[in-house]
Amino acid sequence: MDAELVRAKFGDDYCVDEQTFVMGIDRRFTAHIAERFRGRRVLETCTGGGFTTIALAREAEQVVTVEIDPARQAQAVRNLERAGLLDRVTFVWGDVLDDQVCSGLPEVDAAFLDPDWAVTGPEHVHHFLDSTMRPPADALLERVFRATGNVALIMPPGLDVRELEGLPVHERQRLYLGESRELYCLYFGELASQEGETDFRV
Ligand SMILES: C[S@@+](CC[C@H](N)C(=O)[O-])C[C@H]1O[C@@H](n2cnc3c(N)ncnc32)[C@H](O)[C@@H]1O
Repeated sequence: MDAELVRAKFGDDYCVDEQTFVMGIDRRFTAHIAERFRGRRVLETCTGGGFTTIALAREAEQVVTVEIDPARQAQAVRNLERAGLLDRVTFVWGDVLDDQVCSGLPEVDAAFLDPDWAVTGPEHVHHFLDSTMRPPADALLERVFRATGNVALIMPPGLDVRELEGLPVHERQRLYLGESRELYCLYFGELASQEGETDFRV
């Protein structure tokens, strides 16, 4: 990967491959979202290359982060080490929807969810209900609500928001790079600053 692109997106010479570069969120967004997790004990899923983990670890009291792919987890460990934040993070390898994995997790008071949208190619239509994301966003949210009501969930910019109508009260934030809407972040519980739509632009 081009080191300049990596530095511009993530802030340092982190370890990435093409997939973790694309799936990792721009550091200006991750810093903005992570502010709401200040002082909290956070469950993160999914770790990927660890870029959201870095932002969360800078603000949170403690982060436990779950990832199913061992190669990505290894990258994330290296990146947290590089950021000097390894001691604030517990890495768990496994499927976050697996009861055995979940039963071993510590108590948390907030969660950050960043499922994989792009698993079936560029023509893929994103759904929240009967979700085709990995892990499925609807099942993931339901599972994590059992641990905490304070949740942030990253969703694709092209999502049909009518699918979100049955969810508990939340803030739906649109995040823009210039004029380009890059993603949604849904905030539930104490992480929401208000109900309804908000915008964040860089
Ligand atoms: C969008 S990426 C996360 C990117 C990450 N937030 C970052 O900053 O790099 C989604 C990750 O979810 C992982 N994943 C998919 N299904 C999972 C599951 N059932 N349990 C845990 N992790 C899963 C994928 O391997 C992928 O690394």
